[in-house]
Amino acid sequence: MKLQQLFIDQLQDIYCGEEKLAKALPMLEQAASSDELKQAFSSHLQETKSHLARLDKVFGMIDTPAEEKKCAAIAEIVDEGRTIIDETEAGTVERDVGLIFASQKAAHYEIATYGGLAQLARTLGHPDAAEILSVILAEEQKTDSLLTRIAATLKAN
Ligand SMILES: [Fe+2]
Ligand SMILES: [Fe+2]
Repeated sequence: MKLQQLFIDQLQDIYCGEEKLAKALPMLEQAASSDELKQAFSSHLQETKSHLARLDKVFGMIDTPAEEKKCAAIAEIVDEGRTIIDETEAGTVERDVGLIFASQKAAHYEIATYGGLAQLARTLGHPDAAEILSVILAEEQKTDSLLTRIAATLKAN
């Protein structure tokens, strides 16, 4: 596989991941009970939609149609979130903590992928794409830190 193809594959993987997360975030928001956590999921949904739009731009910059590739890892993490909702009661700290676990796993996957993509874009001589991918990376890192801060406010019952 050529490096450019690896870049496209990873872009398609995260494009699929962002789509799945955009579909899952309203479910997480609705399931959360802490107001701060609900707010974090709701604003991350808006951010996720804008990541999809920016990925469209990156595909355009490399003259490649924006297509999804199967993204098993994010699909599994979304399933994990669904299981947490099934196995916890509404309005409990267990549920909020579980939702934070699932969403931070997704955030870390995104951070790893965007970090790799930003570097690979530079290596391949696509500085404009690298810039967009680095900005998305920074947003994912901010979301991850916000979730860490929210977790610290939750109290055991
Ligand atoms: Fe994202
Ligand atoms: Fe994200």
